[in-house]
Amino acid sequence: MIYTLTGFMGCGKSSIGREVAKLAADFIDLDDAIVEREGRSIPEIFAAGGEAGFRKIERETLAVLLEEAGTGRHLLLSLGGGTLTDEYSRALVRGHCRCIYLRASIDTLVENLSEGGETDSRPMLAGAMSGAADAEARKQALRERIAAMMAVRGPIYEAAADHIIDIDGRSYDDIAREIMDYFSIPCQGKSQE
Ligand code: S3P
Repeated sequence: MIYTLTGFMGCGKSSIGREVAKLAADFIDLDDAIVEREGRSIPEIFAAGGEAGFRKIERETLAVLLEEAGTGRHLLLSLGGGTLTDEYSRALVRGHCRCIYLRASIDTLVENLSEGGETDSRPMLAGAMSGAADAEARKQALRERIAAMMAVRGPIYEAAADHIIDIDGRSYDDIAREIMDYFSIPCQGKSQE
């Protein structure tokens, strides 16, 4: 069975996926797979083809990964924050995967994304803060951008989810264990620290 993690940028999809991978399932990060396949960074892909160009590459990579994964093992796949905004990718996930939405409040997302470099590597956010004069103005611009995007994406994440985990204030390890419990993924003799 293939399980996917979805949620807004900065909610911890990749970090939580790696926690689950320590305990049980194999783990693939879709963004990492895209970068490897393309031999370019995500900002470079956006610079060359915009969001539409990135979504095309994203959906092609997702299709290949799902085809290669088969059905015989537990695979956890963390999606990008915008993967499910694409109708074709959404249909792929619906047809092949169970989906967990890691739901975070806007406050948590602002905190997670305000730390050094988190927005520079994310073209969907980087431009929103370009005119801001200081750190406080940058944070406010980031908050407004996240709120506007979440108004569109929140219902998409919720509609796609088989299970929703509210992650505010919880450790990655704790969330990883809830994911495994929910899907009844047995530990595979890996570290259970
Ligand atoms: C995007 C999220 C990013 C990455 C790309 C676009 C988005 O992934 O796929 O920059 O549209 O939300 P993360 O959610 O892992 O940051």
